Amino acid sequence: MNKNVGLTEVVLRDGNQSLLSTRLKLEDIIPIASKLDDIGYSSVESWGGAIFDSCVRYLNEDPWERLRELKKAMPRTKQQMLLRGQNLVGYKHYSDEIVFKFIEKSSENGIDIFRIFDALNDLRNIKQSIKVVQDSGKHAQGTLAYTISPIHTLDNWLDLAKQIEDLGCDSLCIKDMSGILSPEYAFNLISELKKIIQIPIHLHTHATTGMSNLTNLRAIDAGVDNIDTSISSMSMGYGHSATETMIYLMEEKGISTKIKLEDLIPISNYFKNVREKYEEYEGSMKGVDIQMLVNQVPGGMLSNLETQLKALGKVNLLKDVVSEIYNVRKDLGFVPLVTPASQIIGAQALSNIINKKYETLSVEIIDLALGYYGKLPGDLDNSLLEKATSNKKRITQRPADLLNDKFTNFQNDLSIFCKKLGINDLSSVEEHVLTFILIPYGSEELFKNLHSSI
Ligand code: CO
Repeated sequence: MNKNVGLTEVVLRDGNQSLLSTRLKLEDIIPIASKLDDIGYSSVESWGGAIFDSCVRYLNEDPWERLRELKKAMPRTKQQMLLRGQNLVGYKHYSDEIVFKFIEKSSENGIDIFRIFDALNDLRNIKQSIKVVQDSGKHAQGTLAYTISPIHTLDNWLDLAKQIEDLGCDSLCIKDMSGILSPEYAFNLISELKKIIQIPIHLHTHATTGMSNLTNLRAIDAGVDNIDTSISSMSMGYGHSATETMIYLMEEKGISTKIKLEDLIPISNYFKNVREKYEEYEGSMKGVDIQMLVNQVPGGMLSNLETQLKALGKVNLLKDVVSEIYNVRKDLGFVPLVTPASQIIGAQALSNIINKKYETLSVEIIDLALGYYGKLPGDLDNSLLEKATSNKKRITQRPADLLNDKFTNFQNDLSIFCKKLGINDLSSVEEHVLTFILIPYGSEELFKNLHSSI
């Protein structure tokens, strides 16, 4: 057991994403930022793909400005982001040059710790990001995207973790986005990992199935170095164990977090009030959802799916879609349900239920099936393979090896785009070029807004 377990506060990113569909505005974070900065968290998770997307598409906020403001408001706390490896904060693969640019700028604007994962656990897809983070002098955390399937064995996880350490990562994260990592499995996995790797181990788990407090506690018994929690008024449900609860439980075991429970009360009260403003974005989950132990659908994905179905007036189909997600996943060699695979599989499952099974295949599902996102963990279903290969060729190399996109080309495109919008040329700001690359559809309003505030 580790006597000094670090705490990463996730309310600003994953708590926000899992409970409020990532709608939390910067203006509702800034007033509490200095209090968060005082606590002594090992890091605050504040940025990531869903945040980037939501800023541009829904909040009309410049995601880079948000990052700079957060860093300024919390100068003493490490800012952590979730990075989708070669997909960055987007939904497809980008060339090594774009990956380099994005990480360079994220690091300059305030990110200290990069938690880097690949949806398929194909390490070829995180190698480049890890290298760039290391070169920028920041902390590179490699990730196991945890899932349960007949092909994801303990040996398989140990082997992956060892490879992540060998890539030179500063730490390892076990990322249980669906809350399906059981306490005993966590204990065994971390105990075994501790025998073979030296880098610190972080655990990220969700409360969805009701196991998270126990899972975190057993992980601590096994010697985990850091856990992720969310302030109590923004915890549990699709989200995470409460920061305060875990501190109390840890103190009872004689583990110091150096965090005082009473210091967290004003933060919890603050978010309790803020949360009320965002009620319309909350999912309908009450208590614990045990369905997830069967289907392994992550919290963020479920609440988004529910919002989508609500908009279509078809919320009654939620259960059918959830079962279909399992089938589609099986057909794709038991891909872990994490972005972008979760969105692709979710959309295909929805289409399979509304139309006939695999009647329409999205471009993304074809790419996923044929190796354009990386190597599938298991075997691809034959009939899906047949349908997909009638559209495109199957590949086996690292997907980004096929890409050669140049930053300057996008710079020119943005310049043209601005001209078309009738606004000043924003292409000299590299951050805006990256926004344009990552969210090409939906950045129009934001750019107009940026223009008017110049
Ligand atoms: Co999560």
